[in-house]
Amino acid sequence: WSESGEKSAQIKNDSGNKVAVVLGAQWGDEGKGKVVDLLATESDVVCRCQGGNNAGHTVVVDEEEYDFHLLPSGIINTKCTSFIGNGVVIHLPGLFEEIDKNEKRGLKGWDKRLVISDRAHIVFDFHQAVDGLQEVQRQAQEGQNIGTTKKGIGPTYACKASRTGLRICDLMADFGEFSTRVKNLVLQYQSMYPALKVDVESELKKLKDYAERIRPLIRDGVYFMYDAIHGPPKKILVEGANAALLDIDFGTYPFVTSSNCTVGGVCTGLGIPPANIGEVYGVSKAYTTRVGIGAFPTEQLNAVGELLQTRGHEVGVTTGRKRRCALWFYVLDEIKVGVAYKINGKRVPYFPANMEVLQKVEVEYETFPGWKTDTSAVRKWSDLPPKAQNYIRFVENRIGVPIKWVGVGKSRECMIQMF
Ligand code: IMO
Ligand code: MG
Repeated sequence: WSESGEKSAQIKNDSGNKVAVVLGAQWGDEGKGKVVDLLATESDVVCRCQGGNNAGHTVVVDEEEYDFHLLPSGIINTKCTSFIGNGVVIHLPGLFEEIDKNEKRGLKGWDKRLVISDRAHIVFDFHQAVDGLQEVQRQAQEGQNIGTTKKGIGPTYACKASRTGLRICDLMADFGEFSTRVKNLVLQYQSMYPALKVDVESELKKLKDYAERIRPLIRDGVYFMYDAIHGPPKKILVEGANAALLDIDFGTYPFVTSSNCTVGGVCTGLGIPPANIGEVYGVSKAYTTRVGIGAFPTEQLNAVGELLQTRGHEVGVTTGRKRRCALWFYVLDEIKVGVAYKINGKRVPYFPANMEVLQKVEVEYETFPGWKTDTSAVRKWSDLPPKAQNYIRFVENRIGVPIKWVGVGKSRECMIQMF
C-alpha cells in the first residue's frame, strides 16, 4: 500500500483545462447561438460535439444576421479556433454552402480557424434522400411522421451504430477504397428502398473535390482536444445543438433527433473525461416552442399560440417551418407556468417515457401577473418590471439553478447579466 501510495503521490495531478458547455434545455431554438457568441468573445476554442446541420443557430452582430448549422457559432470570433468533433455528422456540400452564405455576410478567414475531427461521420446526399423516404414511409404506415429536418441525420447515425458509416478519416485515405465502401452502402440502401435513385459517381466526384478543400483542416480530434485541455491555460466552450427534449435517450422518443444532446454527448462527442466538464449553461426561452411532431403538453393551439408565433418570429432557421408555441409571454395579462404533470389526477414526479401517456397528461400551472411592458431596452436587472423579476425568480427557485443571463432581444447587446 505504502509503495503504491507513494508512487501515486508522485504523479502530478494534471486534470487540465475545463470546458464550459451551452445546451438547449427545451426542444431547440432557445437562443444557444447568442449565448455561445457572448462566451466566445473570451474563449480560445469553441466546439460542436453532436448533431449536424439540423441545427440552426442565429447570431446577430452589428445588424448583420449570421445563421450557423454545422459551423460552431464561435467562427465569427477571429480569436477563436472552431472545432467540429467526432460526435458531429457532416454533410460536406451543406458545410460549404453555409460557408459561402456567411462569407457573403462578411465572414472572413474561417479556414485559418476551423478544425475538423477525422472521426466525424459523413452525411451523404443519399442519407438525406433516405431521411425523406423514411418520413414518407412513416406517414403511410403510422399516419404521421417525425417531421425531421431531412438533413440525413437519423440515417447517418444509424449507419454509425450499425458500423456501415464512413468517416472523414476514410475520405482522407485511399479514395478507391472509400468509393467501394460508399457503393456497397448505396446497394444496401437500395435493397431496403427500391425507389432510391442515387447518382453515386457524381456524388463521389463532388466528394473528391471537397476532400481536398477540407484536408488542411482535418486533425486527430481526440489528440486535438487532449492538447487543448492539457496545454497552456485555455478557455474552451462547447456549443450544444438540438436540445434536451430532443435527446435520443431522454427526449420525447421517437420524436427526437438521433444524438445525445444532453451533457453526456459532450464527453463522447469530443473524447474528453467528465472531470473536464466545467460550467454547464442550459438555455431556455420564457415560453416553449417545438418544430416537427411529438407530444407537447403545454401547446397553445389558440390565439395565445398564434401571438407567440408572430411576436416571437418563431420560424425554423433550418427548415423555415412555423414553430409550435406553448406557455406565455409578456404581452399577456397573466403568465402560466407548467409546474407538474398529472396522470389520473395524481402528480407524477418524472417525465413520462411513453408518448401516449405524455399526450394525455394533465398540466398543473402556476399563474403570474403579466408585466405588459416592452423590456427589450432593459440592460440591468433592477430596471426590469418587478412582475418580470418575480417570474424569473420563480423559475430559478423551481429548477434550483441560478439564472446567469436574461435575454431581452436577439442582438448581442440584448442581455442582462445577473451575476
Ligand atoms: P437547434 O440546434 C429545433 C427536431 C426536428 C424534428 C426532430 C428530428 O437549432 O436548436 P432530425 O432532422 O434531427 O432527425 O429531426 O428534431 N430538431 C430540431 N428542432 N431546433 C433544432 O436544433 C433541431 N434539431 C432537430 O424538427 O422534430
Ligand atoms: Mg435553431
